[in-house]
Amino acid sequence: MPGIRGPAEYSQEPHRHPSLKVNAKEPFNAEPPRSALVSSYVTPVDLFYKRNHGPIPIVDHLDSYSVTLTGLIQNPRKLFIKDIRSLPKYNVTATLQCAGNRRTAMSKVRNVRGVGWDVSAIGNAVWGGAKLADVLELVGIPNLTGSTDLGGRHVEFVSVDRCKEENGGPYKASIPLSQATNPEADVLLAYEMNGETLNRDHGFPLRVVVPGVIGARSVKWLDSINVIAEECQGFFMQKDYKMFPPSVNWDNIDWSSRRPQMDFPVQSAICSVEDVQMVKPGKVSIKGYAVSGGGRGIERVDISLDGGKNWVEASRTQKPEMHYISEHNSSDKWAWVLFEATIDVSQTTEVIAKAVDSAANVQPENVESVWNLRGVLNTSWHRVLLRLGHSNL
Ligand code: MTE
Repeated sequence: MPGIRGPAEYSQEPHRHPSLKVNAKEPFNAEPPRSALVSSYVTPVDLFYKRNHGPIPIVDHLDSYSVTLTGLIQNPRKLFIKDIRSLPKYNVTATLQCAGNRRTAMSKVRNVRGVGWDVSAIGNAVWGGAKLADVLELVGIPNLTGSTDLGGRHVEFVSVDRCKEENGGPYKASIPLSQATNPEADVLLAYEMNGETLNRDHGFPLRVVVPGVIGARSVKWLDSINVIAEECQGFFMQKDYKMFPPSVNWDNIDWSSRRPQMDFPVQSAICSVEDVQMVKPGKVSIKGYAVSGGGRGIERVDISLDGGKNWVEASRTQKPEMHYISEHNSSDKWAWVLFEATIDVSQTTEVIAKAVDSAANVQPENVESVWNLRGVLNTSWHRVLLRLGHSNL
């Protein structure tokens, strides 16, 4: 690959922030302490969760780095980083969430396979880059195209990292062509994160960001973009990141029976306090995040202190000093909403959060009902136990 290569081992990994909780070293997977998520609407790059399936690629020559656009198109071509940068630049605030976020809570019900994420395999960033719809126009595919004359219906993104799940081959994934060519879907080829050049952990020099969709489809360290007839046949599309019912186990699983997960469902989590935390009697501030996939806004976040019999509504914000209104053009449609409620604690209390999105989708009450063997998409009501005792809160 000119300009970029995927090493076979881990001797050249980038520096990482010491406060990240490391869930796996090789490949490196880590999340920030949950309190870090609610201290700012835009998650600092250093504290953004990192989800890698292999060693981090190395860019030797940025000038010779290029992305190949090929497949079922009339005019395949190579694009250099200067070509991507010469297209109109968009800044899209979008929340990226791993499908395995909150997996540890699911594994308490029954064993699941996967990295043990708590509630912080999620972050909100301002991604800067070119729209994929504009890039595809360069190879003759107009906006809002469902299929090309040559029969292309999906857009596959291929990386250069070496993943053991792909037998040492690169990470890859695809999205429908109709989404890729829709300028309103805001799919980006991003070269910036929070106004800085993308760093190695997050995909330098170029990554895909598919807003509102599970993080697995936002391929990092892009090498080629292929217009293909069927969805990508790679491991992470066909043998992973699918939602199975609780009855499916490793003996009876039929991977072909389910579609690859795309949009993420409505989700929320309490981040200002841990489960289990000691608090002094009195007022306690409950803060967290709520987000839904597909560009759906957050209509409500409800808090209960009595197991879900009674609920009070939390306040919601995105940008400081601006009232959040779901589905309004003043709100960031792909981004999370931070919520806050002050509660009075006089005894040991379980605090529950549940969010409702703009389509009135609600988080399920119990983790058991959404349990699946890979531990993905745990969006059950989030619960934290507060015990009375000595605390700084
Ligand atoms: N792209 C490549 N090339 N390799 C990967 O391992 N991991 C995916 C996605 N893109 C991955 C990738 C997964 S599962 C997630 S959740 C996001 O990247 C995580 O992005 P981040 O590390 O920037 O937070």
